Amino acid sequence: MDVKENNQVEAHGPQNPQINLKVEVNGVNYQLQVGPADRLVDILRDAMGLTGTKISCEIGRCGACAVHLNGKLVNSCLVMAYQANDSSICTIEGVAEEELHPIQSAFLEEGGYQCGYCTPGMIMAVKALLDKNPDPTEEQIQEALSGNLCRCTGYGGIIRSVQRAVSSLREKQVKSSPRLSIEEVNQMNKDEFVNSLGWIFEHSPWVASIAWESLPFKSREELLQNMVLVVKNAAEALQVTLLRAHPDLGTRLQISEVSQKEQAGVGLDRLSKEEHREFVALNQRYVEQFSFPFIMAVKGKTKDTILAAMQERVGNTYELEFQTALNEVYKIAGFRLNDVIQ
Ligand code: FES
Ligand code: FES
Repeated sequence: MDVKENNQVEAHGPQNPQINLKVEVNGVNYQLQVGPADRLVDILRDAMGLTGTKISCEIGRCGACAVHLNGKLVNSCLVMAYQANDSSICTIEGVAEEELHPIQSAFLEEGGYQCGYCTPGMIMAVKALLDKNPDPTEEQIQEALSGNLCRCTGYGGIIRSVQRAVSSLREKQVKSSPRLSIEEVNQMNKDEFVNSLGWIFEHSPWVASIAWESLPFKSREELLQNMVLVVKNAAEALQVTLLRAHPDLGTRLQISEVSQKEQAGVGLDRLSKEEHREFVALNQRYVEQFSFPFIMAVKGKTKDTILAAMQERVGNTYELEFQTALNEVYKIAGFRLNDVIQ
């Protein structure tokens, strides 16, 4: 395969009749001459020099070669080059714009890779998931990555990376969108309402879905009260699922030491070694005791008040702590609603 001027590429061999191929890759138009047996992955890597797309199993099992073909996730080792005629392709090189894409940053910040060989394919798979479903549950993340094999990390860091990417993308979207008025919210159909507010309660769009039935609301406060009531009236098993859907404040700190911005804002990234040890030990006790993560609306708190709350709450009965955790969930929902509704 040869690359010519103007992104004209030739892929040829003695027995290969040549096929003309026009394709757009990462926004660049290419004209190619390819053989009938040339695979898309080879064209990308060898003819175009886009070696971020990796080759491993070559039989569609590992996801190392994943790219987006007309917006759909495909394993490029299983796509013949001629099948990509007139298509638009995005490879890992096309994911970042001026800065790294939030998914890429999240993998760096959460240690979602070791050797990195599987990472481009993972990121393409995660992007395909989040483009369709911006608030996936852990099960949905696992399912979306079931075609991507990593031999190094054990997947914990990868799942955390995806969860961090979800938060970063949401934060970016909230910041770039004007706050809604309550009148605009009241005019939403159910899908619009759930799409806009389904994330207010962590990975629990069912809360928004039920709250929508009570439209219209006089104010943001009334909407919050209604959503809180939905959770209060839910079966205990569903409430537990909601609590368990929250990221583990302690584990995130334990692994990354510098956690998300909101945690950094309260000084959780500046714990001394001793404080850090205490935090990790308390967190471990807490999770063992209650089987859901320590949840706290950290906005406006300091590391001292958080540590003190953790020390106190770890001594609570299950019933009391269950209610305390739910109350923190309601406070977080209040902060979030405030960010999106006037
Ligand atoms: S190299 Fe394509 S799926 Fe493994
Ligand atoms: S980081 Fe090495 S294979 Fe995934």
